[in-house]
Amino acid sequence: MVYYHRLGEIPHKRHTAFRQEDGSIYQEHLMGYGFYGLKSLLYTLRPPTELRGVERIEEFNWEPDPDPTLRLRHLRTHSLASAGKSPTLDRTPLLFNDDVGISIARPAAGEDVFYRNGQGDEIVFVTEGEGVLESQMGELDFRQGDYLVIPKGIIHRYRLKTLENIFFIIESRGYVRSPDRYRSTHGQLLEHSPYCERDIRPPSRLITQIATDEVPIIVKSRNGLQRMTLCHHPFDTIGWDGYYYPWAFNIGDFEPITGRIHQPPPVHQTFEGDGFVVCSFVPRLFDYHPESIPAPYNHSNIGSDEAIYYCSEEFMSRKGIECGSITLHPDGMPHGPHPGKAEASIGLQETRETAVMVDTFKPLMVAKTALPCEDKNYQTSWLEHTK
Ligand SMILES: [Fe+2]
Repeated sequence: MVYYHRLGEIPHKRHTAFRQEDGSIYQEHLMGYGFYGLKSLLYTLRPPTELRGVERIEEFNWEPDPDPTLRLRHLRTHSLASAGKSPTLDRTPLLFNDDVGISIARPAAGEDVFYRNGQGDEIVFVTEGEGVLESQMGELDFRQGDYLVIPKGIIHRYRLKTLENIFFIIESRGYVRSPDRYRSTHGQLLEHSPYCERDIRPPSRLITQIATDEVPIIVKSRNGLQRMTLCHHPFDTIGWDGYYYPWAFNIGDFEPITGRIHQPPPVHQTFEGDGFVVCSFVPRLFDYHPESIPAPYNHSNIGSDEAIYYCSEEFMSRKGIECGSITLHPDGMPHGPHPGKAEASIGLQETRETAVMVDTFKPLMVAKTALPCEDKNYQTSWLEHTK
């Protein structure tokens, strides 16, 4: 995805001697999908291979809800107790399958550990907070409403400026990209795409760190964590170029596609990965057919599990949700607007809702750690008119 970007100093010709002032050569480092995929070429002060040691420190075991009953579910995730202070290490698992892992974190202000997710791309939605994402490719400022997309394997560190921070995190086994239908065969986003390259923010400042103290880097790999001790600062890049880097896209820059009648969720699609898509519901004008019903119709989508994370108190088709709610409508279970919501939407001009939807094509498991925030009355919340 994204586009070619370069920062700092790089040699005119790749794989040639690029010399430091003392005559020694900078280290050249290819990072990305090997010799056949997307990659960047980095030039660093020291070899990325200077490891003092590697040790396994933790195993993960995301346990599913033992109750396999298929039902519509509602989690009030912002009521979960914070697991800790780190945006990378203290995440509370919510939903998962073989393709994606969804979690939430409420990190504290300050500097996090150096982190490398070696088993998944990350989409980190910043529900609340502001800070800087540092990485081997430079610094990237972020703010509320940003999706931070961090491809697998890039060492990074969060510097959080705000006291209240909430991250909604989607980890993807496959590469996260813009939807295929919005990209030309040459990779450029097309005119009908709801966002374009100008909306994508790559790292903008490269600060070359010269420190040679030992630095621990926490690496997520093979469902666990390991500590890798590097003999120098990992952000000693002098320059780089390529297509593989972390980037940000703000949900407020997603241009909604509207119509005379209700537009289906694919118009809100923002990203795709292997086995899932991500959609952004943003403030927008409603449909303009004189008799249109802006609220969605009932639907039973076979082969798709739909998780919606609400970032505002308002959602046109739901009652009883709050900022931080997740509704999960699993495989084929009929769902639709709450009683009265379809009628109430007729004639409305606009919605102020903001929500992130993750649709997966394999069943999503609810993690045991999410059960304390479940609203158990959600499945029967459509029965209001019979009470
Ligand atoms: Fe749905």
